[in-house]
Amino acid sequence: MEIKNICCIGAGYVGGPSMAVIALKCPNIQVNVVDVNQTRIDRWNEKDLNKLPIYEPGLDNIISKCRGENLHFSCEVEKNISKADMIYISVNTPTKTEGLGAGQAIDLKWVEASARKISEFANGQTIVVEKSTLPVKTAQTIQEILNCSNKKKNNTKTFHVLSNPEFLAEGTAINDLLHPDRVLIGGNNEQAIQSLCEIYSNWIDKSKIITTNLWSAELSKLIANAFLAQRVSSINSVTAICEATGANIKDVSSAVGADKRIGKHFLNPGPGFGGSCFKKDILNLVYICNHYGLNEVSNYWQQIININHYQQKRITGLIISKLFGTISDKTIAIFGFAFKENTNDTRESPAISISLELLQEGAKLKIYDPKVSFEQIKKDLAPNNQTLSHPPKVNNWEFYNDLYDATINADAIVILNNCEEFKDLNWSKISKNMRLPSWVFDTKGFSNTTEAEKFDINIWSVGEG
Ligand code: NAD
Ligand code: UDX
Repeated sequence: MEIKNICCIGAGYVGGPSMAVIALKCPNIQVNVVDVNQTRIDRWNEKDLNKLPIYEPGLDNIISKCRGENLHFSCEVEKNISKADMIYISVNTPTKTEGLGAGQAIDLKWVEASARKISEFANGQTIVVEKSTLPVKTAQTIQEILNCSNKKKNNTKTFHVLSNPEFLAEGTAINDLLHPDRVLIGGNNEQAIQSLCEIYSNWIDKSKIITTNLWSAELSKLIANAFLAQRVSSINSVTAICEATGANIKDVSSAVGADKRIGKHFLNPGPGFGGSCFKKDILNLVYICNHYGLNEVSNYWQQIININHYQQKRITGLIISKLFGTISDKTIAIFGFAFKENTNDTRESPAISISLELLQEGAKLKIYDPKVSFEQIKKDLAPNNQTLSHPPKVNNWEFYNDLYDATINADAIVILNNCEEFKDLNWSKISKNMRLPSWVFDTKGFSNTTEAEKFDINIWSVGEG
């Protein structure tokens, strides 16, 4: 089946960039990205490309080439569903906050709402592609919902559901989409699988396109994220051993990673993993294991999250203890609020939990991040933020556009992500701004802190014994 018109439901961090790349590489396909969030769509349609709703290196370039040609953003969900031969579901799948499975299971209400719309408004033969990360067997639920339209109205619509999980990482999304390690397609209809393979083979070598059954594709995505997060928790657990014994995490990680069987990637220490995916996907895996009575397996994966939490707590405890056991009325500069460099995304950022702990202890924070807006930080640290387990008692923080200004009268600086600007800091200038004794806590071991020592600044760098 030749695909001429694609509709993607969900114009977020995955839907936006992945459809932009399909539009770029398949000029003969019309790609419509739809969303219920009008503000988000308006920002995708902004003339000023600096105002796009998400920041990804290279994205603005593609948008300027394709938008208005074969790439369109709108809130016209029903109309665009009805025109499409292929519909991607790329909506949010957060952890449930209430009811059965709260705190672990995935909330599928947005996926279900999308399937119901497709069932009602799609025409003829439609391929439905799961792009969101989903619990294993969700394709079965989607197929059942899709089939309802025929039962009720005696239609003769045909739907084939495929699983095509997305492996892009934020901050490198465009490069990951243009040059993926693999594309995974799960399905049980050969013709539908081939239609999707043909789209990707416009720019991806066929040897990199893996086809499996539906359940293997759905599960592989959860397992890939669990393995990546496991490496981060493993290396972070080793930082504590290094600090206790006098070993150095950089030496240990390069010595261990030099073994080809282990590999050097994803062995960088930090304040714990953030981002919208790792935690929720592992919690989902834990939930699925429990559902099937695999309690030992679920306990094993749960430990990845426990270590992540431990690392964040360990770092805040350490900051307080180095600052003579109290940070009440002390000023702390936070460098980096996004969960990683090159993104404006703060979801599950370690900066949120660490900032909240510091605020609870009475510190005043001066926050700097080149990609994150004041409005976003305000939402994340708001005392009425329902998603926080312990909202701050006080909103004693300020936002800075200049990182050096943020260090004026600061007792400490806490570096929380690998933003390029933090790599080579002017410590002479910073030391003059700070109050004595001054401290730098480099939770990523990323900055040129050996320079800082020359200016009488005390340094704590993660995993340096
Ligand atoms: P997101 O929150 O940025 O975007 C989802 C969008 O879907 C939102 O704009 C929301 O308004 C829209 N939406 C929800 N229900 C809708 C409906 N019924 N009709 C129309 N629009 C609707 O989420 P995201 O980060 O793009 O993630 C989407 C999915 O992709 C999730 O399952 C996630 O786990 C997965 N994923 C994310 C990443 C990542 O790096 N963010 C990477 C791989 C996979
Ligand atoms: C992740 C997966 O990498 C991606 O394949 C999937 O599609 C979505 O989830 P993302 O969360 O965007 O992508 O970023 P990633 O680069 O994986 O980083 C996640 C977190 O782990 C960040 O907080 C990052 O700082 C941290 N991390 C990563 C480390 O602390 N050390 C590392 O070595 C790597």
